[in-house]
Amino acid sequence: MAKEVVLSGIRPTGFLHLGNYFGAMRNYVRMQDEYDCYFFVANWHSLTTHPDTKELSVAVNRVVAENIACGLDPEKVALYVQSDVPEIAELYLYLNMLSYKGELEKTTTFKEKVRLSPDNVNAGLLTYPVLQAADILVHRAVKVPVGKDQEQNMEMARNFAQRFNHRYGEVFPMPYGFNYGGELVKILGLDGEGKMSKSENQSATIYLADTDDTIRKKFKKAKTDDGPPEENFNKPDYIQNLFTLMKMVSTEDAVQKFEDDYNKSSAGNRIIRYGDMKAQLGEDMVNFIRPIREKAADLQNNKELLDKIKKQGADKARANASETIKLVRKAVLG
Ligand code: TRP
Repeated sequence: MAKEVVLSGIRPTGFLHLGNYFGAMRNYVRMQDEYDCYFFVANWHSLTTHPDTKELSVAVNRVVAENIACGLDPEKVALYVQSDVPEIAELYLYLNMLSYKGELEKTTTFKEKVRLSPDNVNAGLLTYPVLQAADILVHRAVKVPVGKDQEQNMEMARNFAQRFNHRYGEVFPMPYGFNYGGELVKILGLDGEGKMSKSENQSATIYLADTDDTIRKKFKKAKTDDGPPEENFNKPDYIQNLFTLMKMVSTEDAVQKFEDDYNKSSAGNRIIRYGDMKAQLGEDMVNFIRPIREKAADLQNNKELLDKIKKQGADKARANASETIKLVRKAVLG
């Protein structure tokens, strides 16, 4: 039986961080044997906000390199750059005829961007969800590993697919958002102020490109408190976050020790030492991130190899996408 098609896109903005790693990339790596996987860097989508294009191409290479350093195998998956697959643009054109100004204007991401940059409300921004639908449908993907914030875009992709099938004949299966294994790990910033994020508080975000010392320093400054007021106290989320991270990178014994210390602590008897816990976690994270950072840096410095990898990904993606485009042209144009 043919494997199901999994697809996801990564916007080349900023540096990848632990939230991206544990929330997304680690799952991509696990999926690569089980599914027919397409992962791509969404550089066309980035153009909607008019970035400096020189920086954009550096960011594209960094994302490709970091994904490979995290364990994506370009022999197993198609890892490509969106702009290397012109079939996506052609499908975008057809889907644009099936998407309406009213529904596009209503999407929350569009409204948010209009609010943030009212002087750059371009048509590409308005049709962002159409391009995203083209990304997905061009591979007839059914499983799309994305976060909750992408639910509306997924729903629109299904709407466009349905409209297409209804008007021109059945070409597309319905794509759905997908959490691999059902477990969605949410990593908070080390200041305890919401999700770890690329743009918000840089010192609360651990990047895969951070140096050993930067990682240690950031953990040292991570938010804690005076300790639990009573035994077996429910952990506040910024403390839980440290335990979550520790489970990812530390030994079971280390995690167990600090769990026990926490549970036995109370206001009059503080056993847990957050300073020690953060030092241990910092050190284990340094050892976890170092090989990823070094591999990604080597790759970014090896343009020839990077180009080869991107070409290999584009060839795979185009081979599949052009099959879909044949069906689409036949359906639409006869
Ligand atoms: N919009 C997605 C984001 O902001 C990125 C993206 C573009 C994407 N095309 C996609 C995700 C196709 C999944 C499938 O993260």
